[in-house]
Amino acid sequence: MKPIQSYPIEVRGSASRPLGMSPARFLRDYWQKRPLLIRNAFADFQPPLQPDDLAGLACEPTALARLIVHDEKRERWHVNSGPLSEADFARTPDRNWTLLVQDVDKWDADVAGLLQHFGFLPSWRIDDVMVSYAEPGGGVGAHVDQYDVFLLQGLGQRHWAISDDPLAPKACRQDVELKQLVQFEPTHEWLLDPGDMLYLPPGVPHDGVAFGGPCMTFSIGMRAPSQAELTGDLADYIAEQLPEELRYADPDLKPARLSGEIDHGVLDRLKQALPFAGALRDELLHDWFGRFITRYRSAHVPAPLDKPLAADALAAKLAAGARLLRHPWSRLAWSRGKAGCMLYVNGHAHATTPALAQQLCEQRELMPDRKLLAAERTLLLTLVNDGHLLLRTSRRRR
Ligand code: SIN
Ligand code: CO
Repeated sequence: MKPIQSYPIEVRGSASRPLGMSPARFLRDYWQKRPLLIRNAFADFQPPLQPDDLAGLACEPTALARLIVHDEKRERWHVNSGPLSEADFARTPDRNWTLLVQDVDKWDADVAGLLQHFGFLPSWRIDDVMVSYAEPGGGVGAHVDQYDVFLLQGLGQRHWAISDDPLAPKACRQDVELKQLVQFEPTHEWLLDPGDMLYLPPGVPHDGVAFGGPCMTFSIGMRAPSQAELTGDLADYIAEQLPEELRYADPDLKPARLSGEIDHGVLDRLKQALPFAGALRDELLHDWFGRFITRYRSAHVPAPLDKPLAADALAAKLAAGARLLRHPWSRLAWSRGKAGCMLYVNGHAHATTPALAQQLCEQRELMPDRKLLAAERTLLLTLVNDGHLLLRTSRRRR
């Protein structure tokens, strides 16, 4: 039988093994997977920067600095995002405040020198060295970071609390701009001394508070573009290389049965025009194309009504013979898929019935004569209030 693998959460480093294990083992067992406290990761650590140097740097107009004061009595957090001045530091209380400066490695060669210890990682994966200075009680509150971080204690002591519970709640407080967690129940707590280093993968709730005296922490942060950023940039990159003449084409077109419908032939043509679109679910492609094509090349959009109409007011007008005229700048199309029928109106999607979608797409002027479902009435009201359908009470027909 294979022995059960155990992953200690705390190890001891040495000059020859700063991670307390080989980089290969760290990457295999901890990197992006689980937190690790490495005691003595940097033996006899001397901070490459003094608190006064950090305060000086924080006052540079282009430095990315934040001064955070925690008013414990009122449970309020004050964030001064700079540019900071000496006067800001003169006003700080005796405790419960911290200064954080990002990208210190770009300003200070000695701080940048710390990065040579992280040569086991691709250099382009490293974002920056953020340095914090805190008086006792100072910190940024419990939060979650989206990136891996190595929190190296530089001066004094910091109390760290983390939760390695994968089900720990991640909801953020709305009243504080620091993205602090509403709820935080630590599973592990430690006091770090200079040279100790805490590694946290993304998404691990943590809270670091300066303990006893002045405290400096060097955070070596990674960067990982979001899938949204990667997708947006790749799309821009591909788009830049495509010539104008390559366009949506439909030489195979047959007479339209339902002229407003984005049917499956459209999806096939899109997949031909965009090879990577073949990997997307049909519903996603349909939904994107419906939104895209109904706002494509629209120079104007109808303005919503100043005074939205109530449902019963619309019902009364329709009952009295009012007609609904499509606004000339409204563009409509619809599609049906597994999730049901969608009407697209100038980039917005509305779930509806094929009958109403078709009617709205095909008739510039409509007088709903059949009994409408409640959801259909709600959609008409939305389209009237958004300015896409104009109410006409005269008898004149075009
Ligand atoms: C710090 O206060 O130095 C660390 C901030 C963090 O937890 O990301
Ligand atoms: Co953090």
